Amino acid sequence: MDTICENKDVDTSVSIFGKDFKYPFFAGPVGAVNLHYSEEYTDVTYNNVLVKACKDMGIAAFTGDGVNPEVMKSACDAVAKNNGIGVPTVKPWNMEVIKEKFGQVQESGAFACAMDIDAAGLPFLKNMTPPAGSKSVEELKEIVKEAGVPFIVKGVMTVKGALKAKEAGAAAIVVSNHGGRVLDQCPATAEVLKDIVDAVGKDMTILVDGGIRSGTDVFKALAIGADGVLICRPFVTAVYGGGEEGVKIYIEKIASELKDTMAMCGVHSIKEISRENITML
Ligand SMILES: Cc1cc2nc3c(=O)[nH]c(=O)nc-3n(C[C@H](O)[C@H](O)[C@H](O)COP(=O)(O)O)c2cc1C
Repeated sequence: MDTICENKDVDTSVSIFGKDFKYPFFAGPVGAVNLHYSEEYTDVTYNNVLVKACKDMGIAAFTGDGVNPEVMKSACDAVAKNNGIGVPTVKPWNMEVIKEKFGQVQESGAFACAMDIDAAGLPFLKNMTPPAGSKSVEELKEIVKEAGVPFIVKGVMTVKGALKAKEAGAAAIVVSNHGGRVLDQCPATAEVLKDIVDAVGKDMTILVDGGIRSGTDVFKALAIGADGVLICRPFVTAVYGGGEEGVKIYIEKIASELKDTMAMCGVHSIKEISRENITML
Protein backbone atom coordinates (compact mmCIF):
# COMPACT_ATOMS: atom_id res chain seq x y z
CA MET A 1 0.00 0.00 0.00
CA ASP A 2 1.29 3.50 -0.86
CA THR A 3 -1.01 6.49 -0.93
CA ILE A 4 1.68 9.15 -0.97
CA CYS A 5 1.17 9.97 -4.61
CA GLU A 6 -0.67 12.29 -6.97
CA ASN A 7 -4.45 12.17 -6.43
CA LYS A 8 -5.69 11.28 -9.91
CA ASP A 9 -7.89 8.69 -11.61
CA VAL A 10 -6.45 5.27 -12.47
CA ASP A 11 -6.37 4.02 -16.07
CA THR A 12 -7.11 0.29 -16.32
CA SER A 13 -6.90 0.03 -20.12
CA VAL A 14 -4.64 -2.38 -22.00
CA SER A 15 -3.83 -3.12 -25.61
CA ILE A 16 -3.40 -6.72 -26.74
CA PHE A 17 -2.62 -7.66 -30.35
CA GLY A 18 -3.51 -4.13 -31.44
CA LYS A 19 -6.96 -4.17 -29.76
CA ASP A 20 -7.74 -1.83 -26.91
CA PHE A 21 -9.56 -3.21 -23.87
CA LYS A 22 -10.98 -1.38 -20.89
CA TYR A 23 -9.58 -3.85 -18.34
CA PRO A 24 -6.74 -6.41 -18.21
CA PHE A 25 -9.06 -9.34 -17.55
CA PHE A 26 -11.03 -11.57 -19.91
CA ALA A 27 -13.74 -14.22 -19.60
CA GLY A 28 -12.06 -17.61 -20.03
CA PRO A 29 -13.31 -20.55 -22.09
CA VAL A 30 -15.72 -23.01 -20.49
CA GLY A 31 -17.17 -25.79 -22.62
CA ALA A 32 -19.96 -28.34 -22.12
CA VAL A 33 -21.79 -26.05 -19.69
CA ASN A 34 -25.00 -28.10 -19.88
CA LEU A 35 -23.06 -31.16 -18.73
CA HIS A 36 -21.10 -29.45 -15.94
CA TYR A 37 -23.68 -26.97 -14.67
CA SER A 38 -27.30 -27.39 -15.80
CA GLU A 39 -29.43 -27.53 -18.90
CA GLU A 40 -30.51 -23.94 -18.37
CA TYR A 41 -27.83 -23.11 -20.96
CA THR A 42 -26.08 -24.92 -23.79
CA ASP A 43 -22.65 -23.94 -25.11
CA VAL A 44 -24.45 -22.12 -27.92
CA THR A 45 -26.72 -20.00 -25.73
CA TYR A 46 -23.96 -19.51 -23.12
CA ASN A 47 -21.47 -18.12 -25.67
CA ASN A 48 -24.13 -15.90 -27.24
CA VAL A 49 -24.73 -14.19 -23.90
CA LEU A 50 -21.10 -14.11 -22.74
CA VAL A 51 -19.41 -12.86 -25.93
CA LYS A 52 -21.87 -9.97 -26.37
CA ALA A 53 -21.89 -8.88 -22.73
CA CYS A 54 -18.07 -8.90 -22.56
CA LYS A 55 -17.73 -6.91 -25.78
CA ASP A 56 -20.31 -4.37 -24.58
CA MET A 57 -18.29 -3.93 -21.38
CA GLY A 58 -14.98 -3.35 -23.20
CA ILE A 59 -13.36 -6.75 -22.65
CA ALA A 60 -13.40 -10.03 -24.63
CA ALA A 61 -14.57 -13.58 -23.98
CA PHE A 62 -12.72 -16.76 -24.88
CA THR A 63 -15.10 -19.47 -26.08
CA GLY A 64 -14.72 -23.22 -25.54
CA ASP A 65 -14.83 -26.13 -27.98
CA GLY A 66 -16.44 -29.58 -27.92
CA VAL A 67 -16.83 -32.82 -29.83
CA ASN A 68 -20.09 -31.47 -31.22
CA PRO A 69 -19.02 -29.33 -34.24
CA GLU A 70 -21.95 -26.99 -33.58
CA VAL A 71 -20.13 -25.62 -30.49
CA MET A 72 -17.20 -24.07 -32.42
CA LYS A 73 -19.44 -23.01 -35.28
CA SER A 74 -21.86 -21.14 -33.03
CA ALA A 75 -19.02 -19.65 -30.96
CA CYS A 76 -17.49 -18.25 -34.16
CA ASP A 77 -20.92 -16.91 -35.18
CA ALA A 78 -21.18 -15.11 -31.82
CA VAL A 79 -17.68 -13.64 -32.29
CA ALA A 80 -18.56 -12.53 -35.84
CA LYS A 81 -21.73 -10.81 -34.60
CA ASN A 82 -19.58 -8.89 -32.11
CA ASN A 83 -17.03 -7.44 -34.56
CA GLY A 84 -14.43 -10.15 -33.96
CA ILE A 85 -14.15 -9.31 -30.26
CA GLY A 86 -13.77 -12.84 -28.90
CA VAL A 87 -11.17 -15.60 -28.85
CA PRO A 88 -12.33 -19.02 -30.09
CA THR A 89 -10.35 -21.71 -28.27
CA VAL A 90 -9.83 -24.81 -30.39
CA LYS A 91 -9.06 -28.19 -28.80
CA PRO A 92 -5.89 -30.00 -29.94
CA TRP A 93 -7.67 -32.21 -32.50
CA ASN A 94 -5.89 -33.78 -35.45
CA MET A 95 -4.62 -31.40 -38.14
CA GLU A 96 -7.52 -31.97 -40.49
CA VAL A 97 -10.13 -30.93 -37.90
CA ILE A 98 -7.95 -28.04 -36.65
CA LYS A 99 -7.75 -26.61 -40.19
CA GLU A 100 -11.53 -26.89 -40.61
CA LYS A 101 -12.11 -25.05 -37.32
CA PHE A 102 -9.47 -22.40 -38.18
CA GLY A 103 -11.51 -21.69 -41.33
CA GLN A 104 -14.48 -20.83 -39.09
CA VAL A 105 -12.25 -18.75 -36.80
CA GLN A 106 -10.89 -16.73 -39.73
CA GLU A 107 -14.38 -16.14 -41.14
CA SER A 108 -15.51 -14.82 -37.76
CA GLY A 109 -12.90 -12.04 -37.89
CA ALA A 110 -11.69 -13.03 -34.40
CA PHE A 111 -8.71 -10.87 -33.38
CA ALA A 112 -6.93 -13.93 -31.95
CA CYS A 113 -7.32 -17.67 -31.59
CA ALA A 114 -6.30 -20.01 -28.77
CA MET A 115 -5.72 -23.71 -28.22
CA ASP A 116 -5.99 -25.44 -24.83
CA ILE A 117 -3.00 -27.63 -25.48
CA ASP A 118 -3.41 -29.21 -22.03
CA ALA A 119 -6.78 -30.65 -23.06
CA ALA A 120 -4.68 -33.47 -24.52
CA GLY A 121 -4.98 -34.92 -21.01
CA LEU A 122 -8.71 -34.49 -20.48
CA PRO A 123 -10.26 -37.91 -19.93
CA PHE A 124 -13.41 -37.10 -21.88
CA LEU A 125 -11.39 -36.27 -25.01
CA LYS A 126 -9.44 -39.51 -25.02
CA ASN A 127 -10.68 -42.08 -27.55
CA MET A 128 -13.18 -39.57 -28.89
CA THR A 129 -13.98 -38.64 -32.44
CA PRO A 130 -12.44 -36.45 -33.75
CA PRO A 131 -9.18 -37.56 -32.11
CA ALA A 132 -7.23 -35.10 -29.94
CA GLY A 133 -3.79 -35.30 -28.36
CA SER A 134 -0.42 -33.75 -27.58
CA LYS A 135 1.35 -31.68 -30.20
CA SER A 136 5.10 -31.53 -30.92
CA VAL A 137 6.88 -28.20 -31.49
CA GLU A 138 6.97 -28.98 -35.22
CA GLU A 139 3.21 -29.66 -35.27
CA LEU A 140 2.58 -26.53 -33.24
CA LYS A 141 4.63 -24.49 -35.74
CA GLU A 142 2.28 -25.63 -38.49
CA ILE A 143 -0.77 -24.88 -36.32
CA VAL A 144 0.49 -21.35 -35.58
CA LYS A 145 1.03 -20.78 -39.31
CA GLU A 146 -2.44 -22.10 -40.21
CA ALA A 147 -4.18 -19.99 -37.54
CA GLY A 148 -3.69 -16.79 -39.55
CA VAL A 149 -4.33 -14.62 -36.47
CA PRO A 150 -2.26 -14.14 -33.26
CA PHE A 151 -2.16 -17.59 -31.67
CA ILE A 152 -2.40 -18.23 -27.92
CA VAL A 153 -1.22 -21.49 -26.37
CA LYS A 154 -3.31 -22.16 -23.26
CA GLY A 155 -2.14 -24.60 -20.61
CA VAL A 156 1.56 -23.86 -20.07
CA MET A 157 2.92 -24.61 -16.58
CA THR A 158 6.71 -24.77 -17.03
CA VAL A 159 9.54 -22.63 -18.38
CA LYS A 160 10.34 -25.49 -20.75
CA GLY A 161 6.77 -25.49 -22.08
CA ALA A 162 6.82 -21.71 -22.47
CA LEU A 163 10.08 -21.87 -24.44
CA LYS A 164 8.55 -24.53 -26.72
CA ALA A 165 5.47 -22.35 -27.35
CA LYS A 166 7.82 -19.46 -28.16
CA GLU A 167 9.87 -21.63 -30.53
CA ALA A 168 6.64 -22.61 -32.30
CA GLY A 169 5.90 -18.92 -32.90
CA ALA A 170 2.93 -18.46 -30.52
CA ALA A 171 2.07 -14.82 -29.87
CA ALA A 172 0.95 -15.53 -26.32
CA ILE A 173 0.57 -18.20 -23.68
CA VAL A 174 -1.96 -18.70 -20.92
CA VAL A 175 -0.25 -20.01 -17.81
CA SER A 176 -2.97 -22.42 -16.74
CA ASN A 177 -3.46 -25.87 -15.24
CA HIS A 178 -7.03 -26.00 -16.60
CA GLY A 179 -8.39 -25.29 -13.14
CA GLY A 180 -6.65 -28.40 -11.76
CA ARG A 181 -8.86 -30.57 -13.97
CA VAL A 182 -6.28 -32.39 -16.08
CA LEU A 183 -3.50 -33.45 -13.68
CA ASP A 184 -3.65 -33.96 -9.93
CA GLN A 185 -0.93 -32.35 -7.78
CA CYS A 186 -0.13 -29.60 -10.29
CA PRO A 187 1.25 -26.48 -8.61
CA ALA A 188 -0.88 -23.34 -8.59
CA THR A 189 -0.33 -21.01 -11.55
CA ALA A 190 0.72 -18.23 -9.14
CA GLU A 191 3.65 -20.43 -8.09
CA VAL A 192 5.03 -20.95 -11.61
CA LEU A 193 4.17 -17.57 -13.16
CA LYS A 194 7.29 -15.65 -12.05
CA ASP A 195 9.82 -18.04 -13.61
CA ILE A 196 7.81 -18.21 -16.85
CA VAL A 197 7.60 -14.40 -17.04
CA ASP A 198 11.36 -14.16 -16.44
CA ALA A 199 12.02 -16.66 -19.24
CA VAL A 200 9.69 -15.43 -22.03
CA GLY A 201 7.93 -12.27 -20.78
CA LYS A 202 9.93 -9.98 -23.08
CA ASP A 203 9.06 -12.01 -26.17
CA MET A 204 5.42 -13.03 -25.71
CA THR A 205 2.18 -11.82 -24.20
CA ILE A 206 1.56 -13.71 -20.96
CA LEU A 207 -1.93 -14.38 -19.63
CA VAL A 208 -2.73 -16.47 -16.58
CA ASP A 209 -5.79 -18.13 -15.05
CA GLY A 210 -6.66 -20.25 -12.04
CA GLY A 211 -8.61 -19.03 -9.02
CA ILE A 212 -8.43 -15.32 -9.88
CA ARG A 213 -11.54 -14.09 -8.09
CA SER A 214 -11.16 -10.39 -7.27
CA GLY A 215 -9.66 -7.19 -8.62
CA THR A 216 -6.91 -7.61 -6.03
CA ASP A 217 -6.13 -11.05 -7.47
CA VAL A 218 -5.93 -9.47 -10.95
CA PHE A 219 -3.53 -6.85 -9.57
CA LYS A 220 -1.30 -9.53 -7.99
CA ALA A 221 -1.07 -11.55 -11.22
CA LEU A 222 -0.11 -8.40 -13.12
CA ALA A 223 2.42 -7.49 -10.42
CA ILE A 224 4.11 -10.88 -10.85
CA GLY A 225 4.40 -10.05 -14.55
CA ALA A 226 1.31 -11.21 -16.47
CA ASP A 227 -0.02 -8.89 -19.19
CA GLY A 228 -3.59 -9.93 -18.46
CA VAL A 229 -5.69 -12.64 -16.80
CA LEU A 230 -8.58 -14.94 -17.60
CA ILE A 231 -11.38 -15.47 -15.11
CA CYS A 232 -13.41 -18.54 -16.01
CA ARG A 233 -15.81 -20.29 -13.60
CA PRO A 234 -17.24 -17.09 -12.04
CA PHE A 235 -18.47 -16.02 -15.49
CA VAL A 236 -20.54 -19.22 -15.62
CA THR A 237 -22.18 -18.22 -12.34
CA ALA A 238 -22.74 -14.73 -13.74
CA VAL A 239 -24.42 -16.00 -16.93
CA TYR A 240 -26.53 -18.64 -15.17
CA GLY A 241 -27.53 -16.24 -12.41
CA GLY A 242 -28.20 -13.09 -14.38
CA GLY A 243 -27.61 -13.47 -18.13
CA GLU A 244 -26.07 -10.41 -19.81
CA GLU A 245 -26.84 -8.23 -16.82
CA GLY A 246 -25.12 -10.73 -14.52
CA VAL A 247 -21.97 -10.60 -16.65
CA LYS A 248 -21.99 -6.80 -16.72
CA ILE A 249 -22.41 -6.53 -12.94
CA TYR A 250 -19.63 -9.08 -12.41
CA ILE A 251 -17.23 -7.16 -14.70
CA GLU A 252 -18.05 -3.89 -12.90
CA LYS A 253 -17.32 -5.58 -9.55
CA ILE A 254 -13.89 -6.89 -10.59
CA ALA A 255 -13.07 -3.57 -12.30
CA SER A 256 -13.92 -1.48 -9.26
CA GLU A 257 -11.87 -3.75 -6.98
CA LEU A 258 -8.94 -3.44 -9.39
CA LYS A 259 -9.26 0.36 -9.47
CA ASP A 260 -9.38 0.56 -5.67
CA THR A 261 -6.31 -1.67 -5.37
CA MET A 262 -4.39 0.42 -7.90
CA ALA A 263 -5.31 3.65 -6.12
CA MET A 264 -4.32 2.23 -2.72
CA CYS A 265 -0.99 1.01 -4.14
CA GLY A 266 -0.18 4.35 -5.77
CA VAL A 267 -0.21 3.16 -9.39
CA HIS A 268 -2.21 4.96 -12.03
CA SER A 269 -1.82 2.75 -15.10
CA ILE A 270 -1.56 -0.99 -15.78
CA LYS A 271 2.05 -0.55 -17.01
CA GLU A 272 3.07 0.88 -13.63
CA ILE A 273 2.06 -2.30 -11.73
CA SER A 274 5.26 -4.14 -10.83
CA ARG A 275 6.79 -6.63 -8.42
CA GLU A 276 7.56 -3.69 -6.11
CA ASN A 277 3.83 -3.61 -5.30
CA ILE A 278 3.74 -7.09 -3.80
CA THR A 279 5.70 -9.28 -1.45
CA MET A 280 7.31 -12.09 -3.45
CA LEU A 281 8.17 -15.09 -1.32
C1 LIG B 1 -16.60 -26.98 -16.68
C2 LIG B 1 -15.33 -26.45 -17.27
C3 LIG B 1 -15.15 -26.52 -18.65
C4 LIG B 1 -13.99 -26.00 -19.22
N1 LIG B 1 -13.85 -26.02 -20.58
C5 LIG B 1 -12.76 -25.46 -21.16
C6 LIG B 1 -12.63 -25.43 -22.58
O1 LIG B 1 -13.51 -25.85 -23.34
N2 LIG B 1 -11.50 -24.89 -23.10
C7 LIG B 1 -10.51 -24.40 -22.30
O2 LIG B 1 -9.49 -23.91 -22.81
N3 LIG B 1 -10.61 -24.43 -20.95
C8 LIG B 1 -11.70 -24.94 -20.36
N4 LIG B 1 -11.81 -24.96 -18.99
C9 LIG B 1 -10.71 -24.43 -18.16
C10 LIG B 1 -10.88 -22.93 -17.87
O3 LIG B 1 -10.77 -22.16 -19.05
C11 LIG B 1 -9.81 -22.42 -16.86
O4 LIG B 1 -8.52 -22.73 -17.36
C12 LIG B 1 -9.97 -22.98 -15.44
O5 LIG B 1 -11.33 -23.11 -15.07
C13 LIG B 1 -9.23 -22.13 -14.42
O6 LIG B 1 -9.76 -20.83 -14.32
P1 LIG B 1 -10.81 -20.40 -13.15
O7 LIG B 1 -10.21 -20.86 -11.84
O8 LIG B 1 -10.91 -18.90 -13.24
O9 LIG B 1 -12.10 -21.08 -13.43
C14 LIG B 1 -12.97 -25.45 -18.40
C15 LIG B 1 -13.17 -25.39 -17.02
C16 LIG B 1 -14.34 -25.86 -16.45
C17 LIG B 1 -14.52 -25.74 -14.96
